[in-house]
Order: sequence, then structure tokens, then C-alpha cells
Amino acid sequence: MRKDQGVSEFRIVVLASGNGTNLQAILDRLHGREGLVVVGVGSDKREARALGRARAAGVETAVFPREEFGGRGARDAAMGEWVAGLAPDLVALAGYMQILSAEFVGRFRDRLVNVHPSLLPAFPGLDAVGQALAAGAEATGVTVHFVDEGVDTGPVILQRQVPVPPNGDREELENALHAVEHELYPEAIRMLARGEARIDADDLPKVADR
Ligand code: GAR
Repeated sequence: MRKDQGVSEFRIVVLASGNGTNLQAILDRLHGREGLVVVGVGSDKREARALGRARAAGVETAVFPREEFGGRGARDAAMGEWVAGLAPDLVALAGYMQILSAEFVGRFRDRLVNVHPSLLPAFPGLDAVGQALAAGAEATGVTVHFVDEGVDTGPVILQRQVPVPPNGDREELENALHAVEHELYPEAIRMLARGEARIDADDLPKVADR
């Protein structure tokens, strides 16, 4: 929490690989309100539509394509320096589709969160919507969680169920999940900013596990 001219700020950096509708929800619902400020948007993809959304909101952007850094470790080290330079209270993954290095996760551990389109631990990883449809699930949902070294495995902050349409229509389900994400993610971030959610000490990895 940085104090500029006596005003408390809760500084958010968003990482996004794609369309950025979750970033847009964060910009529309949180940015510039109640002390919450999106101070940077980073991406692994130059063409990510999220970057244009950030620029339109006057937010600093940076791109870290893996191939320009010779691997994940070097890319995440450079990205970590950029993120740390923005002094964030929270790093929010919003459709960031790269696995982060253990060093990056460790550096931002208790202030690194993600949104995922399933009720974790069900359907982690890629194509959670396709996984739910293939499993014939009657319901799936949205999870906001802290990020740890695993794939979609960190402590849960908020979850909301979404019914799978009886006809199994993928587009209908994706639209319903997105609508819930755009409510739930800003809600979870607001809770974090107010100090109403944090990682329980029991959920932190033991030093020997790291
Ligand atoms: C969202 O549905 C988000 O939950 C998902 O990517 C989409 C990004 O949409 N993330 C994951 O699957 C992470 N494992 P957006 O670019 O429009 O925000």
C-alpha cells in the first residue's frame, strides 16, 4: 500500500495473454475507485487485445515474449523486475496462459491471484470449459484463487457455480462463465484490497516443500 499525497493506493498489476475481458471488468469496476489503481498490464503476446484495453485506459504496458528471453526462467526474471518496479499490492492473472516460474511465484506469493473457469479442483489447466462438457458435468463455475507453484492449485478465495446448459452449448456456457468472472474477480480483488481475504498460514507451502 503506497501513500501518495496522503492518499492510500492499492496498486494492481494485471498479466493477460488474450482478449482481456477480465482486465476490462477490473478497469471498469475497480480502476480509480476506492483507492484501487491498475498500474501496469503485462503480456507474453504482442498481439494480446488486453494491451489495447490497457492503453485505452492510460495504463502502462509491457510485453515479455518467451522467445525473446531464451526461456521461461529468464523471461519471468525480467517480467518480475518490471512488476516489482511498479510496487504492486496485487498481481492479478487474467487469462495469462503461461506457467510462471517458481521464482516468480515465490517473489509475489501472497499477492498473486488468478481467475479460472471451473470449480477448482475440478477441471484445472487448459480448456476447462471443454473438460466440463466432455465430463458431462451438470454444473461448473468460476474460481478466484491464490497462485502457487502448481497449475490452478492455490488456496481458493471465491467460487461461484454456473449450470451447464442442458443442450451442452459451448458458446452459451462460455458466455455465462464470462459474465460470472466479470463479477467475481473484481469482487475478490475488492476483498483483498480491504484486507478481508488473505492466505491462511496453514495453506502456505512448508519451507521443505518449496
Ligand atoms: C478466462 O475465462 C479465464 O478464466 C481463463 O482465460 C479466459 C480469459 O478471458 N483463464 C484460464 O483458463 C487460466 N487457467 P479474457 O482474456 O477475456 O479475460
